[in-house]
Amino acid sequence: PEPRPRAQQDADIVNVAHRGASAYAPENTLAAFRLAEAKQADMFELDVQETKDHQLVIMHDTTLDRTTDAEEVYPDRKPWKVGDFTLAEIEKLDAGSWFAKKYEDERVPTLGRVLSAMRGKGLGLLLEIKSPELYPGVEERIAAALRRSPSWLRYDPGERRLVVQSFDWESVRRFHDVLPKVPTGLLGTPKVADLPELAKYADQINPTYGDLTKAYVDKVHDARMDVLTWTLNDSADMEKAVGLGVDGIITNEPDVLRKVLERS
Ligand code: G3P
Ligand code: CA
Repeated sequence: PEPRPRAQQDADIVNVAHRGASAYAPENTLAAFRLAEAKQADMFELDVQETKDHQLVIMHDTTLDRTTDAEEVYPDRKPWKVGDFTLAEIEKLDAGSWFAKKYEDERVPTLGRVLSAMRGKGLGLLLEIKSPELYPGVEERIAAALRRSPSWLRYDPGERRLVVQSFDWESVRRFHDVLPKVPTGLLGTPKVADLPELAKYADQINPTYGDLTKAYVDKVHDARMDVLTWTLNDSADMEKAVGLGVDGIITNEPDVLRKVLERS
């Protein structure tokens, strides 16, 4: 078979801090992203959504109540959907106390804030477009934010600087149409027969660990894409994933993964 031309060929397995180093700091906050570096991740992952006034914010759930004090601050706004609030309203929320009191000053960051705060730190960014069906046009707005912070777009395959992924493969395709040089990932486990077609716009297939087999990893590699799997926090699982030949592992505990990778 022809050699795979992708970034990960023969490279180390990439260590991705899921929602930041989210075992140790509140997920999807600057504290968690900064901690990813201290915990020896190669990249940090985050989830992008949009406010009512079309600002890009970092939040996993499509509602604000689990990871902020929105219920307390806005008691009449149930079910606290991200897209029902303006950025100014969201910025009033405490995004850290739910995790630990010492994080009470953490706010829901904007994508722009993260791009500038984390620029030049040596950590790559795995950017998930979360629930894009709720935010028509979000791909173009993400592309615009990246263009305003162009150091993230200076792509060198060896650096793993930026990858854009989604469970919504059409959203990934739309993003690829806007910024075709940015590597992309498809979350999920597409059928083997569909891989060659998907490889026209995707660089990674990123399945949940439960779905993963060595045969599937080999098929993705045959289609010249990489495999990053999620979310592994147990070192025995991490070792098994390494044995399956994955190119990257997404974890809440990048320090645990670092030790596994040093042994393997
Ligand atoms: O990057 C993989 C992972 O983030 C996908 O699942 O639900 O944590 O966004 P979720
Ligand atoms: Ca995610």
